[in-house]
Amino acid sequence: MANRPMLEIAALEKRFGANTILKQIDLKVAEGELVFVIGPSGSGKSTMLRCCNRLEEPTSGDIILDGRNIMGGTSSDLARMRLQVGMVFQGFHLYPHMSVLKNVTLAQRKALKRSKVEADARAMDMLERVGLAHKADAYPAELSGGQQQRVAIARALALDPKVMLFDEPTSALDPELVGSVLKVMKDLKAKGMTMLVVSHEMAFARETADRVVFMDGGVIVEEGTPDEIFGSPKADRTRAFLSRVSG
Ligand SMILES: Nc1ncnc2c1ncn2[C@@H]1O[C@H](COP(=O)(O)OP(=O)(O)OP(=O)(O)O)[C@@H](O)[C@H]1O
Ligand SMILES: [Mg+2]
Repeated sequence: MANRPMLEIAALEKRFGANTILKQIDLKVAEGELVFVIGPSGSGKSTMLRCCNRLEEPTSGDIILDGRNIMGGTSSDLARMRLQVGMVFQGFHLYPHMSVLKNVTLAQRKALKRSKVEADARAMDMLERVGLAHKADAYPAELSGGQQQRVAIARALALDPKVMLFDEPTSALDPELVGSVLKVMKDLKAKGMTMLVVSHEMAFARETADRVVFMDGGVIVEEGTPDEIFGSPKADRTRAFLSRVSG
């Protein structure tokens, strides 16, 4: 990989009580790369993503964002670095009593201390990018699930993240709305965003991912290009999983 790593997960371990959920995970995501994570339910995909900005506190190991270890430093370093890790979840978590524009400007104002003019301008640019500038004054309940998810993406992008983490961003959507969100993600990738994506959208992975990682039981069993993983998986566990999900 010629590009420098933008996000590096090194010897990451996560235990909940006696259960070790993540076991010595090593994963590098290069600048501009889209790494796609698949694996059975309970394999630790969400926990790994959540450890990347310490929403979940790693038991041990390092998370290095653009050359800086987020496990070290002061709490204000951590707060700053958290803002550089954009997260999009299955549920959109928009504030229902605030307009779309307000949802996209709130963290910019509060956390980045941007002026209203600056935050509004940045929000409108990002809403434009996800095709929703015309909905700036709408409330979340007036939008479809796909539109709400695109607002959530715009909100994350407005904070100028160095990497975007997606945890099953389309799983809560009606099938006809999935495409609009995947299109936004594909555009983001084309613009050079570094992305770590947990999803079941295998066709999207084939088309857009640089690398696919298969996790099971808290370890990375195998990784490779989409062709390698989907076309000729090496591990029995990967083959078994793929034959289950492709039904
Ligand atoms: N806060 C917690 N306390 C205890 N155990 C937890 C906690 N969060 C997750 N786990 C356990 O960690 C394991 C991995 O969970 P995780 O949500 O990361 O899996 P996943 O791969 O994202 O699954 P899914 O595909 O269903 O989303 C599971 O066994 C889960 O029960
Ligand atoms: Mg999960």
